[in-house]
Amino acid sequence: MKTINSKIKESSAQNTQNNEDNCPICGQKLRREAIICGIKYSIRVMCKCEEHQQEVERQRREDLEKMRRIEKLKFLSLLGERYKFVTFENSKIGINPSFDIAFRRCKKYCEIYEKTVKKGYGIYLFGDKGVGKTHITACMANYLLSRCVPVLFTNLFEISKAVKSTFNRESSETEQILIEKFSNIDILFFDDLGTEIFTKSSGETWLQGLLFDLINKRYNNQKATIFSSNYSLNSLINERGIMEKTVDRISEMTNGAVMKITGSSLRNMSKNSIF
Ligand SMILES: Nc1ncnc2c1ncn2[C@@H]1O[C@H](COP(=O)(O)OP(=O)(O)O)[C@@H](O)[C@H]1O
Ligand SMILES: [Mg+2]
Ligand SMILES: [Zn+2]
Repeated sequence: MKTINSKIKESSAQNTQNNEDNCPICGQKLRREAIICGIKYSIRVMCKCEEHQQEVERQRREDLEKMRRIEKLKFLSLLGERYKFVTFENSKIGINPSFDIAFRRCKKYCEIYEKTVKKGYGIYLFGDKGVGKTHITACMANYLLSRCVPVLFTNLFEISKAVKSTFNRESSETEQILIEKFSNIDILFFDDLGTEIFTKSSGETWLQGLLFDLINKRYNNQKATIFSSNYSLNSLINERGIMEKTVDRISEMTNGAVMKITGSSLRNMSKNSIF
């Protein structure tokens, strides 16, 4: 069967040969007369099927452009390989009720992202290792990325590594530019908060300062931050040594959306034996 495109090509060839004024497919006139400064011109106009074809082409280019943009955003998001393809659709539910509750709320948050992200609402997900915290936040990140929302998916270790690399004179980015980038992105996924234990040593004071600075900037800018942690907010202070003022900000940023996932680790659930 001939495509519209090939029919159009054929028909324009015929038109040139036969000097026909009508489209052989839709019958619409392909020439219109116009008088400009007293001179009569015959202008080639598009018929319905050519317009349709042009629209199909435009849509195809737009889809391609969107796919390229999503790929680029995915690359920039720093989302780890393991979590690049997890989605709300391909996740298993119905095994752990507390996982399911958090999963549904996080999905809802994404479905209305134009309100939640814009208003800077955050989420604090905590629970033992392997219960699916990173998995849920990765589903969120992938959902938003597929809608071209720029996200950053990272943790304190990676942030501090990136900031420290700016101390190197060869780096093109300054420390402040990088901190601004982390502070201003519309949605930041902060994975595994509390992994680092803080005492009063000097190196950690710098990291405490960096953490506070970042959280405080996002708090002031009303930017949405999604945290995952093995620790409750209180334990961040009492067991992990994070400054109270930092945790106070986090608590306010995630007010009403602090969710605990209980249950046992799913770490082996996703592994299918290949031998
Ligand atoms: N609902 C789910 N469906 C499929 N795989 C899951 C689900 N929840 C977790 N997993 C997988 O189980 C493993 C552990 O989950 P993860 O989110 O990394 O745990 P946590 O961040 O709480 O330590 C990961 O490989 C993850 O992809
Ligand atoms: Mg995790
Ligand atoms: Zn036509």
